[in-house]
Amino acid sequence: MTAHIKPNAPVLDSYWMPFTANRQFKAAPRLLASAEGMHYTSVDGGRILDGTAGLWCVNAGHGRRQLAAAVERQLTTMDYAPSFQMGHPIAFDFAERLAEIAPGGPDARLDRIFFTGSGSESVDTALKIALAYQRSIGQGTRTRLIGRERGYHGVGFGGISVGGIVNNRRVFPQLPGSDHLRHTHDPARNAFVKGQPEHGAELADDLERLVALHGAETIAACIIEPVAGSTGVLIPPKGYLERLRAICDKHGILLIFDEVITGFGRLGAAFATDYFGVTPDIVTTAKGLTNGAIPMGAVFASRKVHDALMHGPEGQIELFHGYTYSGHPAACAAGIATLDIYRNEGLMTRAAELQEDWHSAIHSLKGLPNVIDIRTIGLIAGIELASRDGAPGARAYDVFVDCFETGLMIRVTGDIIAFSPPLIAEKAHFGEIVSILGDALKRVK
Ligand SMILES: Cc1ncc(COP(=O)(O)O)c(C=O)c1O
Repeated sequence: MTAHIKPNAPVLDSYWMPFTANRQFKAAPRLLASAEGMHYTSVDGGRILDGTAGLWCVNAGHGRRQLAAAVERQLTTMDYAPSFQMGHPIAFDFAERLAEIAPGGPDARLDRIFFTGSGSESVDTALKIALAYQRSIGQGTRTRLIGRERGYHGVGFGGISVGGIVNNRRVFPQLPGSDHLRHTHDPARNAFVKGQPEHGAELADDLERLVALHGAETIAACIIEPVAGSTGVLIPPKGYLERLRAICDKHGILLIFDEVITGFGRLGAAFATDYFGVTPDIVTTAKGLTNGAIPMGAVFASRKVHDALMHGPEGQIELFHGYTYSGHPAACAAGIATLDIYRNEGLMTRAAELQEDWHSAIHSLKGLPNVIDIRTIGLIAGIELASRDGAPGARAYDVFVDCFETGLMIRVTGDIIAFSPPLIAEKAHFGEIVSILGDALKRVK
């Protein structure tokens, strides 16, 4: 059954959709009505296999009753409470639960946790914490923030300043002084690789170049995604993250990992920090934090960073920053229920068990029309297509529409297809994904 519905212009008019070609969409909309387990159902009854965990967030699969019940319980007990100069136990409880599994391992856990409402807010919060930290240790000249080309750090002004996607930047001004490392995507040397590619660790030395150019005393922090998702699954070359960590240490630069998509089990460990064994100073999260059910983000800071700010008169607010919805009770309830599910079902490490089957299934698409690279890590895959002449992104978009109509949700960015299925996936789902996508690749010219 087709997942398409007929256009219904009056109903669709008012909603100005995010990151969407609104007019194109409203002429041929794709509307989802319900979700359960590994599947969505469209408004006209089409069943769609979720190859992307929604938007990299529904790690425990859809329709989790335990989570819904926890949120309902919280909303009927106390729907909302401010977190400025007062608190509520569930926010503290959730932070303690997160602290137990925080990135960095038992000896170096980043277990001081600031709640936000989204990934973008987590990023801007992390950047502000980095600036406040440097100032608090007498390094107030360090105001420069370093990101990376092809990085995605959400849509706040901080996030787009360190982000490296031109369409997110060209219309909007950025924070002065922000600069970028080169990206690590190198298909000429690293095509069709499972796991971390061999070549490119030396690209971390770009940070040395920026230190030489700007002076270390001007640089507060360097932020990267350990695995970049939104620009098409860019996996760090072996040794790259270690090298970046060493350069940051050498020059007093804080290292921030944006784990909005890699947090909560995506790679087969709770965090990419643990998977790669490289510990930054700050980690940003959102998405899988609440299984996507209630918007929420969390920033994990090291004690070094946190404690540096706990100075001055006790009655002084240490960090002038926060959101109305920081530590929202219903979001905390969703988060605790999500952690329970992850723990009870072993989902934080399930990607490690699935990855061999996942990688073989996805790499079997090699050789299909227009496939020029495939890369996989944990329960993530990127499939890069050759672009049509003069129409970058058009081919992958057609594949996306074809898959949606034949029952598979994929994500495309430019001409790259990204997969990040829920961590409850079974091997049979991988076969289905490959079969539907393979047919689409053969159909789309
Ligand atoms: C690495 C990364 N950082 C930040 C964000 C922004 O998150 P949000 O859309 O919740 O603001 C995203 C979203 O995809 C992301 O992938």
